[in-house]
Amino acid sequence: MKDKKTFYITTPIYYPSDKLHIGHSYTTVAADAMARFKRLMGFDVMFLTGTDEHGQKIERVARENGMTPKEYTDHIVAGIKDLWRTLDISYDSFIRTTDQNHVEVVQKIFKKLYDQGDIYKSEYEGWYCTPCESFWTEIQLSEGKCPDCDGGVELVKEESYFFKMSKYQDRLIKHIEEHDEFIQPNSRKNEMLNNFLRPGLDDLCVSRTSFKWGIPVTFDEGHVIYVWIDALSNYITALGYLTEDDSRFKQYWPADVHLVGKEIVRFHTIIWPIMLMALGLELPKQIFGHGWLILEGGKMSKSKGNVVDPVVLEKRYGVDALRYFLLREVPFGSDGVFSNEALVNRINSDLANDLGNLLSRTVAMIDKYFDGVIPEPGVGADVDQELIQMAENTPKKVEELMDELLFSNALAEIWKLVSRSNKYIDETTPWILAKSQDQKPRLGTVLYNLAEALRIISVLISPFMIATPDRIQEQLGIKQNEDLKAWESLKGFGRIPAGIRVQKGEAIFPRLDVEKELKELEKNLTTADGQGEQADRTDDQNKQNDKDSGESPEITIDDFAKVDLRVARVISAEKVKKSHKLLKLQLKVGEETRQVVSGIADQYSPEELVGKDLILVANLKPVKLRGNLSEGMILAASDEKGKLALVTIDSPIESGSGVS
Ligand code: ME8
Ligand code: MG
Repeated sequence: MKDKKTFYITTPIYYPSDKLHIGHSYTTVAADAMARFKRLMGFDVMFLTGTDEHGQKIERVARENGMTPKEYTDHIVAGIKDLWRTLDISYDSFIRTTDQNHVEVVQKIFKKLYDQGDIYKSEYEGWYCTPCESFWTEIQLSEGKCPDCDGGVELVKEESYFFKMSKYQDRLIKHIEEHDEFIQPNSRKNEMLNNFLRPGLDDLCVSRTSFKWGIPVTFDEGHVIYVWIDALSNYITALGYLTEDDSRFKQYWPADVHLVGKEIVRFHTIIWPIMLMALGLELPKQIFGHGWLILEGGKMSKSKGNVVDPVVLEKRYGVDALRYFLLREVPFGSDGVFSNEALVNRINSDLANDLGNLLSRTVAMIDKYFDGVIPEPGVGADVDQELIQMAENTPKKVEELMDELLFSNALAEIWKLVSRSNKYIDETTPWILAKSQDQKPRLGTVLYNLAEALRIISVLISPFMIATPDRIQEQLGIKQNEDLKAWESLKGFGRIPAGIRVQKGEAIFPRLDVEKELKELEKNLTTADGQGEQADRTDDQNKQNDKDSGESPEITIDDFAKVDLRVARVISAEKVKKSHKLLKLQLKVGEETRQVVSGIADQYSPEELVGKDLILVANLKPVKLRGNLSEGMILAASDEKGKLALVTIDSPIESGSGVS
């Protein structure tokens, strides 16, 4: 059936959250590197990601924001896609569990399992953790709390459908025991076998009646399908399973690897394979459970407020530095601590020093000693062989490591070649060779070998980094030559043609001032909203203002032009529950209506604001304050005692007018 070598890789589908943090980016960047690697190797790749949009949690958050669940998720999904664009994620398909096709196929799956007797109706009584969307039995609770997130659980009792997990348990144990690669790393495999499977599975409750935001069971009104049954199915509904055109399903299934965080390995290695067995489908070849990126203080999470914003880091250092760091710093199966210091140090040592210098030294010497033209190799020496052999062997090693998803080791292997090349410069001392005309043929060989090593490095890093390979190839003068960028071209050293003109360019990774960067990053450690525990933004802003007082930097008119100021008319205003400071305003801005939450409640009453024309910072990134979406900020003057005065306009003008 599969005529070409195919490779199907998935990320989990993300819960819609207005603040995806660097931990989420970690899974997706890793999957992307793998997808790009396989494409480079000539595979026909399907890389799937998407969003997991149903469930009680989302229903609640949407309601708190005054939106329908679909309005809410539409808004968030647009933001998630923006983030993936920023990080150059090359997914082939993006599934939303609200897609009509997904909904219909999940209904068919549920019906099929019901018809064949694997799903049956009974009564459920047990504990439910809404943040985790997980059911627990009394004994599974840890001191009365959710064993996964340590949060509160609710007792639920309702008529429900159940999935006969127990029926397939022995088959699954056997499959896991016979397929060593099925659950990786090994530690996760043992955990699943010993903690869940061998003690015996309970049948799983797979429908709910206490809320509506889910996929309805077609044959029993009031029941919606359990979100994990819905979510896991995405890996096959996205390929057209059980639809008229299931060609992609035939082409790509079974998946080569489902990449998931360690906390959801259980769903992917127990519920999902059993669903597939019940459907009579092949199991995925591998589920790989990676570790967490941790901040000092615990796992990053929205509700803990210790979120690191990948967009901030990308803006400052570029996408390649960020991708490199994520994949290099932490061995993929383990937990790793994220720190700003580690990031800045990595950029300086590996990127600016090792790779950046290798390129600038090589190109500068070709420029200086050979008028910018890559020389013909002339006279060889023993020391060349070490470099050449390493350059020839590295691709194979990288391939083996990537096949085990050892991203960090693969990069380390490539960097050995970078270091070897730098060492080669020190050993061959081209600046001394350049002093004597007799040594010109030898000097030619040295610089040729360095140019070729750099070309090879640029190809090897191309799954991990996006712009950097191009920039290296541009400086080497081979940007137009596709053959020299292919994996094939790594076989046999010496493919870069002599006679090509190099183009000296800027440093690809300028060295950073560590202390200055750490200070800047400290300011940018953003917090995001949990379920209302977040400090009011106005407080944060005030603190920030205190710190900055008296030292505002000069800006240009272009800097100022980035701020979109608009006249906005207050249509309605109300107090935010449980907050003394916050008012929620509905503003008319031209044709548009905007909601803005503002910390002015102690000086302005809602009534006196209605009808006022205020100035809105319209392109401020939206945030949530106490669960309320705030799209922009209104301007107010404030004095040292904290007195506030709103900025208004002195004669009537259309709302939506620009302010400059
Ligand atoms: O679990 N470090 O979605 P999600 C590393 N919708 N990875 C992290 C992380 C961190 N600090 N924080 C989150 C879901 N992740 C379900 C999946 S699949 C059918 C349904 C990873 O948005 C996490 O481990 O909570 C998971 O793999 C992914 O982000 C999505 O998490
Ligand atoms: Mg999660």
